Amino acid sequence: MANFETIIYEKLDSVGYVTLNRPQALNAYNLQMRDDLYRVLGAIKDDPEVQVAIFSGAGERAFCAGADLTEFLTAPSPVIARQVRWERDVWGLFLSIAKPLIAAVHGYVLGDGVEMALCCDIRLASEDAQFGMPELGLGIIPAAGGSQTLPRTIGSARALEILLTGRRLRADEAHRLKLVNHVVPRNELLPAAERLANKIKTYSPIVVSYAKRAITEGLDLSLEQGLELEAKLGRHLLTSDYS
Ligand code: COA
Repeated sequence: MANFETIIYEKLDSVGYVTLNRPQALNAYNLQMRDDLYRVLGAIKDDPEVQVAIFSGAGERAFCAGADLTEFLTAPSPVIARQVRWERDVWGLFLSIAKPLIAAVHGYVLGDGVEMALCCDIRLASEDAQFGMPELGLGIIPAAGGSQTLPRTIGSARALEILLTGRRLRADEAHRLKLVNHVVPRNELLPAAERLANKIKTYSPIVVSYAKRAITEGLDLSLEQGLELEAKLGRHLLTSDYS
């Protein structure tokens, strides 16, 4: 187990557990969390013992209530506060991980919280989860990939509505819009994520990573190019000794 200032990172039976750990501030994403997350994501990416990772939030009330507003208030402007975050490409690193990532979210899931969940491959929500993108009210646009990942997940019209109105979605609506895969009772959230992780772990890690690459990389290609990618990855598997 590695303890960072804002994140708890545990590794158990090939599963990496990432727990955002600022419950007193509803796990708001601050600069320290950016740095901690960067290190944790690097560990997940490079550690061959980790086959799948689960992201969740500590405390009863939130997965993550978005960017830390106290940092926004002390920065010369929200725009400058946002620029500081770009100095490390946490989100590029997140999306480059070829292992399956599962978000298990509860309570408030706002701004960066939604975007973090969207960097994961499978999203589970508890019945009490509430989602929203309040960025425009702060005079900014999403900067953790949300303007790209949200429409790719739920379609542009729905993404625009959520962003342009700032309204909150309850878990059942998030499920209907396909923002989350499943909604479960709060006490079932982590067990449900673990069941998924345990199933994934039964497969060869390289086969799993190729399946993830075929789907996620293929999404940005034409159908023809995507079929070529699938064939290339499939051929590569057949000719490589991955056992
Ligand atoms: N940044 C920093 N601190 C935050 C925070 C954030 N984004 N969201 C919540 N907190 C802190 C509060 O300041 C409060 O701290 P305190 O107990 O020291 O006063 C604590 O978390 C609990 O939040 P509180 O506002 O008292 O809870 P609530 O139930 O009344 O409201 C929210 C919950 C999520 C609706 C409200 O906190 C909120 O709107 N937060 C900001 C969301 C946001 O705009 N995020 C930025 C997205 S880009």
